[in-house]
Amino acid sequence: MNTFGTVFRLTCWGESHGRALGALIDGCPPGLELSESDIQKELDRRRPGQHIGSSPRQENDRCEILSGVFEGKTTGMPISVLVRNTDVQSKDYESLKNIYRPSHADLTYQLKYGIRDYRGGGRSSGRETVARVIGGAIAKKILAQQKIQIIGFSREIGGQFFEHVDFSYIKKNPLRMADKKNYKKALQILKQAKEGKDSLGGVAEIHVQNPSAGLGSPVFGKLESDLARACLSVGSVKGFEIGEGFALSRMNGSEANDSFLNSSSKSVLKDFKDQSFLTQRNANGGILGGISTGEDIWFRVAVKPPSSIGQSQETIDSSGKKVKIKIEGRYDTIILPRVIPVLESMTALVLVDHLLLHRAQCGN
Ligand SMILES: Cc1cc2nc3c(=O)[nH]c(=O)nc-3n(C[C@H](O)[C@H](O)[C@H](O)COP(=O)(O)O)c2cc1C
Repeated sequence: MNTFGTVFRLTCWGESHGRALGALIDGCPPGLELSESDIQKELDRRRPGQHIGSSPRQENDRCEILSGVFEGKTTGMPISVLVRNTDVQSKDYESLKNIYRPSHADLTYQLKYGIRDYRGGGRSSGRETVARVIGGAIAKKILAQQKIQIIGFSREIGGQFFEHVDFSYIKKNPLRMADKKNYKKALQILKQAKEGKDSLGGVAEIHVQNPSAGLGSPVFGKLESDLARACLSVGSVKGFEIGEGFALSRMNGSEANDSFLNSSSKSVLKDFKDQSFLTQRNANGGILGGISTGEDIWFRVAVKPPSSIGQSQETIDSSGKKVKIKIEGRYDTIILPRVIPVLESMTALVLVDHLLLHRAQCGN
């Protein structure tokens, strides 16, 4: 399946070492101001080579809008966007064409299709997420009209939880950490892993600020189930928890319950604009019964360490024989900071789809 969404639909295509990758967005409302620089801004946040743990592959990721925009505005027609692959070194992968790299998608693609483009992981490469970010950039513009903002950051790196959150610090550091105090510590952990030719995973935390109340629907269109599906569709994502998530499962009901606030100065039910005061601690992540409360939506996503490492590893080849491999290509020590813009994009796609679905059923 290469199409995502019900009303606002993203279809994407392309392989890591093919000629280009692209996104087709259908169902975008007309009249939205859109330029290549709006998309480029987001693509630049996803590009490799921005910190010491990042792959040296140097792709410009220059996007070209091919259709659906006229005189700077969307026309309501399909929006097609292309990004060419320019920094491709397929010879790095020649020696791996009959080998299944551990924890990669090589084996399952081969099992299912009987053929695979082994160059750079083909379609299973993180490079496919270029198209998601293109769709997300357009979705973010629609959300911005409603003053809805999505911010993601690295909450954990290599098992180290970073407690302090300063949203303004996230864009000032390439690891996308919100904890300034512990930035140097994170760099140290990363350096150690790199020296040991190893890699690190982490946990991303995503916040949707100022979301509309009422998004999502019972029973199969719950907002959190769509967010989970969206995030888990991203390569290397292995876990999702909404709000206090797994911690809630370890509490008694009396502890887990999050009371509604009866603010004397504001009636929350009448004045849905001041949503941030709805519950005491927003334990359910801004969603109850699958429908957004209007409080900030927040969730965490577990990202595994990149599987391509420089250490020698045991695996099997296509005849089932045991072989040892060492990945010689260009790879990342950590991919979490690059996965964050992708997760933000997937979140934006889900929210816009639900906004349009809500309008269709309930009006504005
Ligand atoms: C933006 C992005 C970049 C990625 N870069 C790498 C990488 O450099 N090395 C690697 O081993 N995996 C990388 N991955 C992860 C693989 O694509 C993924 O682990 C693989 O396809 C197997 O899928 P799974 O881990 O979801 O089961 C990246 C994923 C994303 C989203």
